[in-house]
Amino acid sequence: MFILLTMYKQFLFLLIVKTVYCQDNVLDVAKNLGANQLVKLLQDAELSSVLKGKGPFTLFAPTDKGFSALPADVLDKLTKDKTLLKQVLSYHAASGAKLSSDLTNDQLLESLDNSQKIRINIYDGKVFATGSQVILPDKNASNGVVHMLNKVIYPVPTENVVALASKTPELSTLVYAIIRGKLEKTLTEGPFTVFAPNNAAFQKLPPGKLSDLLSNETALVDLLTYHVVSGTVYSAGLKDGMEVPTVQKSEVRISINGGTVKVNDATVIQADVSVSNGVIHVIDTVLTLPS
Ligand SMILES: *[C@@H]1O[C@H](CO)[C@@H](O)[C@H](O)[C@H]1NC(C)=O
Ligand SMILES: *[C@@H]1O[C@H](CO)[C@@H](O)[C@H](O)[C@H]1NC(C)=O
Repeated sequence: MFILLTMYKQFLFLLIVKTVYCQDNVLDVAKNLGANQLVKLLQDAELSSVLKGKGPFTLFAPTDKGFSALPADVLDKLTKDKTLLKQVLSYHAASGAKLSSDLTNDQLLESLDNSQKIRINIYDGKVFATGSQVILPDKNASNGVVHMLNKVIYPVPTENVVALASKTPELSTLVYAIIRGKLEKTLTEGPFTVFAPNNAAFQKLPPGKLSDLLSNETALVDLLTYHVVSGTVYSAGLKDGMEVPTVQKSEVRISINGGTVKVNDATVIQADVSVSNGVIHVIDTVLTLPS
């Protein structure tokens, strides 16, 4: 009995020491919370030693489920291309220990991949890192803090709205209109959310409408800026019935039915395309300005 009690006391003492001094580094904490795949891949990418170091670090740790949700070809590419793997994983850690209470909407954190910033969003009090949701925040480690993510942050955004759209063949009409409206430079600022009509959307306009628009800069700028919202609103930040003021000033109305997100009468056909200065949602119809 006495021995048991002594052992119990020792156990309690160790537990308290462990809790108070928190010997586990960010990798141990992530692993204890079930981020096995992340910890393994960090080893493969030779990033473990960095994250075991002094730090402090903020580690955004996707769950194993988050990794298995990646498309098979992406996962395959990641496991074969070590440079890419290193780049993607470096994008999940920032220097400095940032608790969720230190984070603000549209804040950018320097990631360990120096050129890339992690975009923080706060929607309804929930924290998002470049569109992935923090599902378990503020897990302290000896050398920083861990936030568990529901998804891997991928692909890493490297280009601004216009640069990315210019590389996307189905957005060529939009890019042409942006250039004609002299909005190229404005759209390198931000952060912005762009509802981007694809070429098929422009083809659905009544005959002559597009050429009329392209020859009237005022009308063109009015219409294009009606497709742009200030701030980064990933689909996780959109709610059914929401009225969102655009840069043009009139509002667009969001409706969500099952998995379908609509902006006025347009359907979002590709959501959450991350860019360095915001996010793009591709839509199937050009929006109409309220009269
Ligand atoms: C985690 O660390 C922060 C700052 O270092 C501290 O304020 C907070 O109380 C800690 N949380 C826990 C659960 O230990
Ligand atoms: C150009 O568009 C503006 C705004 O829609 C309109 O007020 C103006 O009359 C148009 N100009 C021409 C020449 O059609």
